[in-house]
Amino acid sequence: MNLNPFFKCARINKLFRLVYLISGLFILLSLTSCEKKEEETAALKSKFSSTQLTAHFSYDLGPATVDVSSYPLNIQESYKLFLAVCSSCHTSSRPLNSPYIKAYDWKRFIKRMHIKMGTRGYALDPKEEKRIVEFLVYDSKIRKIDKKDEFDAKAQELNKLFEEVSKERDSLKEKETLGLPKKETPYVGVK
Ligand code: HEC
Repeated sequence: MNLNPFFKCARINKLFRLVYLISGLFILLSLTSCEKKEEETAALKSKFSSTQLTAHFSYDLGPATVDVSSYPLNIQESYKLFLAVCSSCHTSSRPLNSPYIKAYDWKRFIKRMHIKMGTRGYALDPKEEKRIVEFLVYDSKIRKIDKKDEFDAKAQELNKLFEEVSKERDSLKEKETLGLPKKETPYVGVK
């Protein structure tokens, strides 16, 4: 038996390092397997993506961009501004696939969104507002008025999809609630 305290200390240090290393590896392993499991269950849970499941309007489920290559250059520029501003809270799909077409409606919506932006600390100046309205009016004419039948058919498709997504969301919520432990009645003292 070696009673030299320095030697003992060095051995204990070595032992500790080994223990740290092993527990570190163990934690790392359990974390990665946990992540994998969550991904797997999420994929098993629903055929819809998480973005689809968070849609508030059927319009949210449509495409978020438009092919503006044939639009006039100034409108193409305004489109960029539109994308930057109108996709910061919700997806740009919302206005793009919504049924609104008139300048009156777009102005009204931009005012409404403006108030919301105000609370978020954004500020749109009147020039920018005008450019966004210009884009929306032009784009509505091209896609929603001139190709009304195509647009309406797509809107119906989105409505159907939205119904399915809503049903799925409700059933997922129900399952989640069933899986949760029963809520305990809070202690309110002796009455
Ligand atoms: C600060 C956050 C915010 C920004 C930025 C924003 N929106 Fe919205 N938008 C909302 C919220 C919240 C709703 C849902 C509640 C509502 O309709 O007021 C909404 C809903 C909408 C709707 C659907 C309304 C309906 O009832 O059918 C349209 C269309 C819309 N936004 C257009 C726009 C456009 C165009 C822009 C860019 C100018 C924009 N939004 C920017 C927050 C925002």
